[in-house]
This record gives sequence, C-alpha cells and structure tokens, in this order.
Amino acid sequence: MRFDIITVLPELLESPFNHSIVKRAKDKGLVEIEIHNLRNFAKNKQRQVDDYPFGGKAGMVLMIEPINDAINHLKNLHEYDEIIYTSPDGEIFDQKMANTLSLKKNILILCGHYKGIDHRIRENLITREVSIGNYVMTGGEMAAAVMVDSIVRLIPGAIGDESSALSDSFQDDLLAPPVYTRPAEFNGWKVPDILLSGNEAEIDKWKHEQSILRTKELRPDLLKDED
Ligand code: ADE
Repeated sequence: MRFDIITVLPELLESPFNHSIVKRAKDKGLVEIEIHNLRNFAKNKQRQVDDYPFGGKAGMVLMIEPINDAINHLKNLHEYDEIIYTSPDGEIFDQKMANTLSLKKNILILCGHYKGIDHRIRENLITREVSIGNYVMTGGEMAAAVMVDSIVRLIPGAIGDESSALSDSFQDDLLAPPVYTRPAEFNGWKVPDILLSGNEAEIDKWKHEQSILRTKELRPDLLKDED
C-alpha cells in the first residue's frame, strides 16, 4: 500500500510515521508513505502557495495552481484509488472507513490548511473529503496522521499478532475488554480470577461480556442499531 501526502507543513508529519507499528510496517515494505511539500510546486521565487480570497478579507486560501500541479505530478506516477482532502466539512472518519481504505492500493491525501483551498480543486480533483471529528484544527496534517496510522495497522502483517487488530475497540461496534499484565496483584488490586484460570473458552466468554458491559456503560450510542 502507498500513501502520498501533500502538505504545506511537512515537518508536522515527520514524527508520526517514524515510530512503532507504522515504522515497522514501512521497514517491512508493507507500506510506503511519502510526504510532498506543496511549496515545491509554487510558481514564484517566494514559493508562495496562498493568496487572498476573492470577495473576502480575512484569511489566506491555498492557490489552485500549485495544488493542481502537485496532484497531476503524482497522478502521472501512481494510479490513485482515492484522492482525499482533509477538512472539517468531510465525512466523519471511523473504523469502517479505515477498514475500507486499508483495502486500497494507492491513496493521495491533500492536507487542508487554515481558511481552505481554492474550491475548484475540491470540485474537480478530490474524490473524498474526510473529517476526523466535529472540531476545527489549524490544518489537516493531524487528520492525515490519524487516518494513516489507523489504516496502516490494519494491513495484514503490520501487527505481530494479526488477530489483535480484529479485536480492537470498534471493530465489531463494541469497545475492547479490559487487559492486564503482571503482577496479578498490586496494592491489593487484583486481576480478575478468570484471566488466570487458563480456560480459554471461559476467558473468551468473559471478554465478550466485558465488551458489551463497557460499551453499554461508556458508549451506548454504538449499540443503538442492535436495540
Ligand atoms: N482540518 C481542520 N479540522 C479538521 C478536521 N476536524 N478533520 C479533518 N481535517 C481538518
């Protein structure tokens, strides 16, 4: 799988993809992630990529030409399944969308910034607009990092124990059960006996019950379709 990400702030995306599971997936050759600085596609010496909006005063808008050139340059190199624009206006990102996108081959993400981008890009080149939640950030870089992280961990082989991605919270619209590690007792706080019993069937049953209980208590909205 391959991600290309176009941004005016490449520095913001240096760290998120260079640790833990995402880094390991890159090292194993399961995913390629390339960050592209929009300024490299600027038309003038000042490397300007934003300009004043028509018909308004406040805020700068990312210009059409550098974005168009960056996208076309990349489209000549790769065939994209999706060209995503990160924006608070978009469809809300969730586990289902992560699952769907993890089955794609090439994804291009254009990070939105501040007051937005020339709307003609959105109308003509973007295939999908995605939001990571109902709040406004200063740019779409964090959204791109969130999406890539949650998609990459679903690629077969990215996580050592493949079944663990499937037992994540949300994977079946249930929160994950609680987990514990040694010591079995700390400060008088005990790990549930069942987990020490060695009885796999009973442990699985307990975990499922706990998932349902936690979901009812913490995220009843996830269960509403089943009622
Ligand atoms: N850019 C600014 N806010 C955003 C959000 N909530 N999701 C995606 N991109 C954004």
